Amino acid sequence: MSAAPEPTPRVALREYAPSAFELMVNIRREGGFLGFLLKVWREHGDLVMLKIGGRSVLLVADPDLVQHINVTGRDKWDKGASYDGLRDKLLGDGIVTATGVSWRRQRKLMAPFFTPKGIAKYFPIFVADTERMMERWRAGCAGTGKPVEILDEMMGVTASVILHAVFSTESGPTLDKVRHNIEFLVTESAKGQSRPVSLPSWVPTPNNVKYKRAYREVTDYIRELINQRQAIPQDQWPDDLLTDLMVTKEEETNTTMAEQLLVDNGLTMFAAGHETTARTLSFLWYALSQNPEVEARLHAEVDEVLGDEAPTLEAMKQLPYTLRVVREVLRLYPAAPLYARDAIEDDVLAGVPIPKGTPSLPFAYATHRHPAVWQDPERFDPDRWLPEREAERPASSFHAFATGPRICLGSHFSLLETHIMTAMIARRFRIRNKPGHVPHVEFFGTLGSKNGLPMLIEER
Ligand code: HEM
Repeated sequence: MSAAPEPTPRVALREYAPSAFELMVNIRREGGFLGFLLKVWREHGDLVMLKIGGRSVLLVADPDLVQHINVTGRDKWDKGASYDGLRDKLLGDGIVTATGVSWRRQRKLMAPFFTPKGIAKYFPIFVADTERMMERWRAGCAGTGKPVEILDEMMGVTASVILHAVFSTESGPTLDKVRHNIEFLVTESAKGQSRPVSLPSWVPTPNNVKYKRAYREVTDYIRELINQRQAIPQDQWPDDLLTDLMVTKEEETNTTMAEQLLVDNGLTMFAAGHETTARTLSFLWYALSQNPEVEARLHAEVDEVLGDEAPTLEAMKQLPYTLRVVREVLRLYPAAPLYARDAIEDDVLAGVPIPKGTPSLPFAYATHRHPAVWQDPERFDPDRWLPEREAERPASSFHAFATGPRICLGSHFSLLETHIMTAMIARRFRIRNKPGHVPHVEFFGTLGSKNGLPMLIEER
């Protein structure tokens, strides 16, 4: 008896191998790399083997295939060579770039600190840092009629939050210096990944020297904090993430985290947990400025629930529309529009054998606009996130935080942070787009606007 034929896969693998000239023309014509990738997806489909300059990478937009890579076929996909640059240059064996046993141990150790219960202790930091920014706005830029770059504002407040939460670093010159050094390191390592040719880091170019100095200053700073804590009794250590990581014993080995791993994870938390949230918030203000009926509903909700009271964790539960606005921003403007997974075993996708070593790019920006999943995908409609509508959608149709075991560790942290900041700011301020400005959305390692997001801040 012959075996039943394999069902025909719903998605076909297509190949696209543009010449260097075609690539250049298309990137220019589509307004940049993100536009180019969207065009590839629209013209070639949900699974494309993109061949550029002798390298091949799979662009994956189909939710079921994303689900396979991240969840069901997870044993065959991990962070391999695609993360070598970031691992070697910046984050070492910290949790974002670790793999195998090291990653499993770190994830197990850190997971309890990032549950909704675990992150509740950061709520006062979210509130106080937002208050401080709003005070500055009242004293300065609000109502002046002069546009401010809203990303800078959001970067400032989320940097302050993450440095408070991880290291208990107080605002002031130290915070500014650490912040700018880390931002420089993150930007440079992202550039290094995309540069076709770059000199090795031991060549003393001005940039390499600057990079090494910034790295040394930041890592010395984290080491110094660790040493200061070790010099005093443990019950006097501040209640922050660094202390949690320093005191918690790893189950299998019954040891605490080694100093180098503490340093790697200190850097990792800043790199992973600050710019992404800032970019989400920036696009949120832009989206609200373009959708006055959504803004009006949001204002009605925050005015009614928060009134003139100080926000509490309990009140957050009564702000469901505000949370739906945040989720809709993450759908249309995912701060990580694509990320990478490498095949660590041979696998089959859409009926086609995929050899071990093949890199893939789950393309959240495209999945989140998939017409088979999202009706009228470009429309900003927070009510898509009503529970009954959410339940209708396939798993991994939304992967702004990735999905599966390597889903963003900080998703609850960033959702609460974004939720509270949106509510607090919208209660007091209206943020308008600079008249006539049309943002040019582009991929820079994270999602941003090439021509910025100049906005006007007005008190309500
Ligand atoms: C809106 C804000 C955020 C977005 C859109 C976001 C998105 C993501 C995505 C897509 C990944 C998977 C990346 C990959 O696999 O290459 C990830 C991983 C991660 N994120 Fe976030 N993130 C956000 C905020 C945060 C915050 C606030 C923190 C920490 C406080 C954080 C910590 C992490 C960590 C530690 C990982 C690695 C998890 C692992 O591999 O086990 N993220 N994030």
